[in-house]
Amino acid sequence: QNRLPLAGKHVLITSGPTHEPIDPVRYIANRSSGKQGHALAVAAYEAGARVTLVSGPVDLADPDNIDTIRVESAADMLSAVKSCLPADIAIMAAAVADWRVASEGAQKIKKDGSGKPPALGLVENPDILATVGHHESLRPKLLIGFAAETQNLIDNARSKLERKNADWIIANDVSPETGIMGGDANTVRLVSRDGVEDWPEMDKAEVARQIVARAAAALDE
Ligand code: C5P
Repeated sequence: QNRLPLAGKHVLITSGPTHEPIDPVRYIANRSSGKQGHALAVAAYEAGARVTLVSGPVDLADPDNIDTIRVESAADMLSAVKSCLPADIAIMAAAVADWRVASEGAQKIKKDGSGKPPALGLVENPDILATVGHHESLRPKLLIGFAAETQNLIDNARSKLERKNADWIIANDVSPETGIMGGDANTVRLVSRDGVEDWPEMDKAEVARQIVARAAAALDE
C-alpha cells in the first residue's frame, strides 16, 4: 500500500504579506508575493495532508483542493490561524508586517495646507509564530518559521528560533540583488537546534517539496 507521507495530517501554512490600514484607502505593505508559501501549501497537499492556507493579499489564485482563508492585516491573520489550530505541522511563511498604524483613520486623511505631513504613530503587531510557538495546548508538533533578512542571516535566524520557540527556521537572504522576493527561485538555509544546512538554489516549488519531505520525516521520528 502506497500511503502518502502526510496522509491523515493537518498542515497549516501562512503566506503572503499583510496589509496594515492607514485609512480607508491607504495601507502599509511589503514585497512578499506569497509564491513560497503557496508552493508549500501545494506540496503539503500533494504529500497527502489536509491543508489550511491563511493568506494575506496576493495576486495568486487560491490553490485547488486547499482550504484557503484570505486575510488583510496581521491581527486578522492571527485570529484566522488560531481558528484553524490544532495542526500537526505549521509553516509560517507569511511576511507579517511588524507594525501597524496605532489608530486607523475613519476617513481618508487629507492634506491640511500647512505643508506638514501627518505623523503615523506605529504600534507593534502580534507575533503569530511566537504566539503559536509558546501556546501551551495548540503548538503543533513541528513548527517552522521563515527568516527573510538582508544581513546577519544566520544569527538572526538562530535568535528567531529561540525567541519564537520554533523547531526550524528557513532562512533566506532577500537583498534586492538576490531577486528572491517576487522571483521564482530561492536559496535557503535550514536552521535548527542541530545546526545549519545550506541548500542549493532551487525553484520555490522544489524548495517547498524538500521542506515538506523533511517535515514528514521529522514527524515520523
Ligand atoms: O521576526 P521576523 O518577522 O523576521 O520573523 C519571521 C518569521 O516570523 C516568519 O516565519 C513570519 O511568518 C513570522 N512572523 C509572524 N508574525 C509576526 C512577524 C513574523 O508570524 N508578527
